[in-house]
Amino acid sequence: MFSPKCGNGEKSCVLGIESSCDDTAAAVIIDGVLRSSIISSQSEHIPFGGVVPELASRAHDRLLVPVVQAALQKAGIEMSDLTGIAVTRGPGLIGSLMVGVSFAKSLSAGLGIPLVGVHHLDGHMDSLWLGASRPDPPLLVLIVSGGHTQLMRVDASGRRIILGKTRDDAAGEAFDKVAAILGLEYPGGPEIDRLAAHGNAGFHEFPRTRLPDYDWSFSGIKTSVLYHLNRLDLPERTRYLEKHLADLCASFQEAVVDMLVEPVQRAMEMTGIRSVGLVGGVSANSRLRDRLEQTTSSLGGHLHVPDLEFSMDNAAMIALSGSLKLARGEQDSLFFTAHPSLSMDLEEAPV
Ligand code: KG4
Ligand code: ZN
Repeated sequence: MFSPKCGNGEKSCVLGIESSCDDTAAAVIIDGVLRSSIISSQSEHIPFGGVVPELASRAHDRLLVPVVQAALQKAGIEMSDLTGIAVTRGPGLIGSLMVGVSFAKSLSAGLGIPLVGVHHLDGHMDSLWLGASRPDPPLLVLIVSGGHTQLMRVDASGRRIILGKTRDDAAGEAFDKVAAILGLEYPGGPEIDRLAAHGNAGFHEFPRTRLPDYDWSFSGIKTSVLYHLNRLDLPERTRYLEKHLADLCASFQEAVVDMLVEPVQRAMEMTGIRSVGLVGGVSANSRLRDRLEQTTSSLGGHLHVPDLEFSMDNAAMIALSGSLKLARGEQDSLFFTAHPSLSMDLEEAPV
């Protein structure tokens, strides 16, 4: 079998592992080139309308070995070819993270190769460099996922600064909670996106919460969708939803997109930065992509979005972050632990 002969000093061959929430993923990067990316999304959470932590950990435990084997096989390498391992250290569900971190530590010890822990959001940011369009800093990056909503500035030196973040729910969480209110399956974001394409975004004006600086709050819009439906008794509500589900999805989505785009536009105007990245699961939203594309190009800028397979949680982004760290000589000891609320360890500063 063809072997790229990693580990002979000529090649770097890094396995990335991601298990922070409900996707079990592994990927291999050889000399900076992505050779495989395998994602197994757990379906056991659907009947519960959200991720059940205990079920997620058990599923990671069951899926991780076959997912890693598939990633190695697709990359055309053996386990013994690996020269380094990168694993998501946090933030995320502690049980889920521990499955990935413990597995990565055992592999690192068994093979005698270095291990690095990666911050999940650094991984999402680095997903911008996995596709064809690879932006040069300085740039602004909007991270929108199920757990985070954050605006970052990446300086020309590569330094990362947090400009703003959500004070309560993340944008993806708002999509998922409103989808549940509307009776849609988890995860609701893709479903709202799909239905909204057939709806009237001007059907109902949900309130847009605007905060100073570059912060967000999405709890108000979620409550306002709930109150909008609670005015109706059950039979009226059922008829209303039958008739206007797509209109409500489109109206809600438009409000969230307005709220997400406005601070990015302001940051572009304030900083003069014209390169914008959009990452995280919600970056798959078609309306958000279109609106941010319009906004950046109207200001003479350019929007960079990862391919869809790298928008949602994946291990390619973790393998890339980790291989960059390993190339800089960074590595973690076998005593490092998973951290459910790991901070990004960065400055928080106004523009
Ligand atoms: O980045 P991700 O896979 O996991 C986290 O790190 O949280 O993001 C998952 C989130 C979920 O809330 C999901 O509903 C949302 O991304 N999402 C979407 C779309 N696709 C995924 N939200 C809106 N529109 C979409 N097309
Ligand atoms: Zn994520």
